Amino acid sequence: MTDHPLQAWRDTLEDLGVMGLVREPMAAPEPIPAPPGPRPADLRLGLRPASNPVAQRPVPPRPSSAPPTAYVRPTDPIGCPPPEAVAAAATLADLERAVQGCLACPLGPGRLKFVFGEGDPEARLMFVGEGPGRDEDLQGRPFVGKAGELLDKMIGAIGLKREDTYIANVVKCRPPDNRTPAPEEARACLGYLHRQIELIQPAVIVTLGATPLRELVGVGEGITKVRGQWKRVRIAGREIPVMPTFHPAYVLRQYTQDVRRAVWEDLKAAKEWVDKAAEDQGLKTED
Ligand code: URA
Repeated sequence: MTDHPLQAWRDTLEDLGVMGLVREPMAAPEPIPAPPGPRPADLRLGLRPASNPVAQRPVPPRPSSAPPTAYVRPTDPIGCPPPEAVAAAATLADLERAVQGCLACPLGPGRLKFVFGEGDPEARLMFVGEGPGRDEDLQGRPFVGKAGELLDKMIGAIGLKREDTYIANVVKCRPPDNRTPAPEEARACLGYLHRQIELIQPAVIVTLGATPLRELVGVGEGITKVRGQWKRVRIAGREIPVMPTFHPAYVLRQYTQDVRRAVWEDLKAAKEWVDKAAEDQGLKTED
């Protein structure tokens, strides 16, 4: 029964990206060993202490049992960029031009702006979030609201700038009420993310929250359980290490030392791997 209080609680937790209680754990790929080397013991996110006003604000009640908008595949193919155009895009700019008018799922008609993604087209570190929120929908840029401010700080804490990385989402159009994208919506958009990854060729992908981990990597276990454990995704024949961590919006809501430390550890591990990959290629590292 969808209106059972436990169901509502579960929906809320899943919206926060914190649990997968009802999902069967999927077989995890072989873990990729973390690069050797000492780790600074302390949390250094450069964030305000736990008096963060955003964290203290009560979380507004969500319509917990409302099902996502039913997915209807458009019969008019004009709204769907042909897969050949996606495959033929030789640059991120080409790809953005090819897909920015997309109406392949019900999220398309509801958007204000298409949020393609942004950053260094040759970034070695790529972040993948869930989907645009209100601020992103207004500006057409990923992670520019409160969660984005925190993501910028998280990136700064590992010695990088936002523009050194590439930031994208599973879905490029805002889901109504910021709900989790339906699997069909994610699937309709996933080819664009795959092509972005193929063009960027990052050394490491950091997934933010449960949705990109599930939709991009195929790992449906709860994010609290699997964060910090290396996964991998194969895109166009190339295997890319994936570090799952908490979504910054979750960090803002659970602004505890433990959660911040966990994110710091995850990003540090990702950065160490990026540096190791760069060293292996004889490239200069970025600190
Ligand atoms: N949350 C996301 O997952 N992506 C954004 O771009 C903004 C907020």
